[in-house]
Amino acid sequence: MAAATAAGAAATAAAVSLIACYILLHKSRAKLSWFPTVGFSRASGRRVRRRGLVEAIGNTPLIRINSLSDATGCEILGKAEFLNPGGSVKDRVAVKIIEEALESGDLVYGGTVTEGSAGSTAISLATVAPAYGCRCHVVIPDDAAIEKSQIIEALGATVERVRPVSITHRDHFVNIARRRALEANKLAAAQRESSEKQTNGLTHVDSEMLDDKLAVMQRESNKMQNGGPAHVNTEFSHCGKCDVNSDSKGGFFADQFENLANYRAHYECTGPEIWKQTKGNLHAFVAAAGTGGTIAGVSRYLKEKNRSIKCFLMDPPGSGLFNKVTRGVMYTKEEAEGKRLKNPFDTITEGIGINRVTKNFMMAELDGAYRGSDREAVEMSSSSAMNCVGAVRVAQDLGPGHTIVTILCDSGMRHLSKFFNEQYLADHGLTPTATGLEFLDK
Ligand SMILES: *[C@@H]1O[C@H](CO)[C@@H](O)[C@H](O)[C@H]1NC(C)=O
Repeated sequence: MAAATAAGAAATAAAVSLIACYILLHKSRAKLSWFPTVGFSRASGRRVRRRGLVEAIGNTPLIRINSLSDATGCEILGKAEFLNPGGSVKDRVAVKIIEEALESGDLVYGGTVTEGSAGSTAISLATVAPAYGCRCHVVIPDDAAIEKSQIIEALGATVERVRPVSITHRDHFVNIARRRALEANKLAAAQRESSEKQTNGLTHVDSEMLDDKLAVMQRESNKMQNGGPAHVNTEFSHCGKCDVNSDSKGGFFADQFENLANYRAHYECTGPEIWKQTKGNLHAFVAAAGTGGTIAGVSRYLKEKNRSIKCFLMDPPGSGLFNKVTRGVMYTKEEAEGKRLKNPFDTITEGIGINRVTKNFMMAELDGAYRGSDREAVEMSSSSAMNCVGAVRVAQDLGPGHTIVTILCDSGMRHLSKFFNEQYLADHGLTPTATGLEFLDK
């Protein structure tokens, strides 16, 4: 197919095929569940049994994105992470964080994993925690879409919605999540102490009393979550009245930004999978960074295998990482001009871009960075749009005949209200008009 013809199709095909794959695979997997003793390995096509949800994570297919490959003359391959049980690449991170914490003893069976996340990581933690006999408590800003907390609660986790404040504020949702884990640990210690005293005949605090106290906390927490004024949320977090405390086995703060389990998940699994699936025949890897875990783990692994494989960052508007990679300084025009308002990034792409260097990102080995605009992401019309824009940029720079790998982090289903909402796009002056890849030409 000529590039010009691929053009109109190119923009939508990626998204459409992703959604089609998603639906097909979900349907076929649903059918297969009628045969409880036989699972189907998507990666190898061989019939193997996967033991439980956790084993169903990873080994995702590497899909040739036909439209973009045909239009660029390169092989553009996307790692189909949206096929993980929790619907995103974050399943890998959630599993690794929990397994390492259980191994180190920082988290115990029956304990609660806490995280401050409005996105896929919360959904993944809520999805996998029960497989380890653990609970999950998520703190999110109250301006996040209500569907997000509904999904997380439907998965059995508890959600605390708080007023959005700066990350430097002690009541930023990430800081509250960290505190909830500490509170749960204190409570666990108190309960252990009280049961020790009980066995010594000294019943200062018996567990029934604690349970009563917790029931009150739970009721108050519910009251406050149901539309209390903004300042109440702050008080709420000060007094530690939170259902995470009803757990007596302690808590563990997942800390996806700084916890290097995130990087290791990709260094130990995603990277090796890409290497095997391409048989080492790839020229470049490109991905955007949210926590930096994916790009760090994959780039480091691939570079160890073959230093000539080029690894690039794809950065959305408003993120400071592009300058960090290309000039060694964290700086964005938007920030310098004091344009940053409520939304930390002037982009409609969620979950990527950041203005600090996380421990995970520090592990990355990069050859350069590209910048993408919202317009390009929208024209690309796919959930993993920014990564696909990056893959095309790399393809254009390297020229035809190269193999470029990127990550299809989640399914477009998660972004219907933005990426696929005509009104929203019109309001932001982002109504797609491209008939081909011309929107990428500088
Ligand atoms: C390493 O990668 C480059 C290009 O990415 C390729 O040309 C070269 O053959 C590879 N080397 C080995 C040893 O596979």
